[in-house]
Amino acid sequence: MKKTLGTLAGVALIALSSQAFADESAEIGKKIYDRAFGRGCGTCHDIASNPQLTANIQAGTLDRAKFEDVIKNGKNGMPKAIDEIMKNAAVKKAGYGETQALDALWAYLSTK
Ligand code: HEC
Repeated sequence: MKKTLGTLAGVALIALSSQAFADESAEIGKKIYDRAFGRGCGTCHDIASNPQLTANIQAGTLDRAKFEDVIKNGKNGMPKAIDEIMKNAAVKKAGYGETQALDALWAYLSTK
């Protein structure tokens, strides 16, 4: 019985910590979105005539691969953004690499 309780507590703890990790990641994603290029991605993307990132992710027209490609290489009016993202203080503090930083931004945008 004691052992069962311990196992249950362990499982609950793992569930809680992965939730905490997802929250931390989305939190860092928000900081990237709000601060990149000084004024944030929203300076352009919160304007209706530019691609609506959250809506496009939810509609399935923007997938993770295209997201990464456009951010790393830029596209027409969209500036290359990966260097800006890696300069973000929250990304540096968390010690994130490029993939983790993009995952964080994706996590934030997916639920925004
Ligand atoms: C100077 C304005 C500007 C800024 C700042 C900007 N974007 Fe963009 N972005 C654009 C424009 C314009 C497009 C459309 C490019 C095209 O398809 O011709 C775009 C396209 C994209 C796309 C592809 C969307 C799709 O559905 O095809 C992604 C992803 C994206 N931007 C992410 C970001 C992120 C993340 C940031 C902040 C780090 C950011 N952008 C900052 C203007 C901007």
